[in-house]
Amino acid sequence: MKNIILTGDRPTGNLHIGHYVGSLKTRIELQNQGDFEQYYVMIADTQALTDNANNVDKVKNNIIQVAIDYISAGIDPNKVCIFIQSMVPELFEITAYFMNLVSVSRLQRNPTIKDEIKQRGFDKSLPIGFLNYPVSQAADILAFNANIVPVGEDQIPVIEVTREVAHSFNNCYGQIFREVKGLLPQTKICARLPGLDGKLKMSKSAGNSIYLCDDEKTVREKIMSAYTDPGHIKVSDPGKIEGNIVFAYLDAFCRDEHFQKYLPEYQNLKQLKEHYKKGGLGDVKVKLFLNSIVNELLSPIREKRKQLEENIDDVYQILFDGSLKARAAAQQTLAKMKDAMGLDYKKLQNK
Ligand code: TRP
Repeated sequence: MKNIILTGDRPTGNLHIGHYVGSLKTRIELQNQGDFEQYYVMIADTQALTDNANNVDKVKNNIIQVAIDYISAGIDPNKVCIFIQSMVPELFEITAYFMNLVSVSRLQRNPTIKDEIKQRGFDKSLPIGFLNYPVSQAADILAFNANIVPVGEDQIPVIEVTREVAHSFNNCYGQIFREVKGLLPQTKICARLPGLDGKLKMSKSAGNSIYLCDDEKTVREKIMSAYTDPGHIKVSDPGKIEGNIVFAYLDAFCRDEHFQKYLPEYQNLKQLKEHYKKGGLGDVKVKLFLNSIVNELLSPIREKRKQLEENIDDVYQILFDGSLKARAAAQQTLAKMKDAMGLDYKKLQNK
């Protein structure tokens, strides 16, 4: 059977360049390689509500923002089915059957969930829906019989729950689901891009992000304020690369051809780093170089975004059409599951 790819994001804010190198770039490469039978990208509104119960408007308004981010960054709705989670209600029925196959303590011990519970201050009062989101995510993936799930590093333990659910279901009711694989970005820096402040991972809640929709001036200001090496005061001082965010971003975004274009005195990143470490290379020069690279990436995305923003109804239509298609696929899986489980009451009638 050919590959079925599924991935998704919670619509809680615009996507940033951490999402770009951490997942969007891989998704677009997979799309262009074309080695799949189906390819789904889900906007996980219901999952977003598991820690935003009082913020329905935020989730609702960000659905279109995330869709615009996807399409402007290069996800092609003719090749990829983009859909809204809550518009496929079969996912919740599938979740209900899966919930019987996972123990509470198993979820509580999951390292990603454990961290997220702490971050959100849920240690005192944990919503059942939040603890359960990995099970609902197993439904998102298995409903489409997906075998490849491109995600960021922190989602690997969550995908592990999907794998366990698939095994349990197969053992309990018969072989229906195949092996699921989480697909990480190739480099570590891309899997976990740090924020501008140099402390946390780039994230909306930490306020340390460069968004795909940021204009040129904003990007420049943000890059100019990025954390470098506080010991590198004079240009002649030797500088540190470790923990230096500007170099971390260059690791993620810079290619040799960028040097020919924007900084021809150097051939590659290695040379630039050597000079910085030795002393004699100022932060501003490196920052302006990074700024050119980031703007080269973002300017076509901004253009596309402008066009899409003028045709919002068309973008919604893409999501509604995608959701119908996704729903038809999930209905088939649910029917197969119920059949395997023996939940076929109609067969009990003698006609
Ligand atoms: N949990 C993912 C995140 O926070 C979003 C998500 C929901 C997802 N369902 C999914 C990712 C299914 C991959 C597959 O980023």
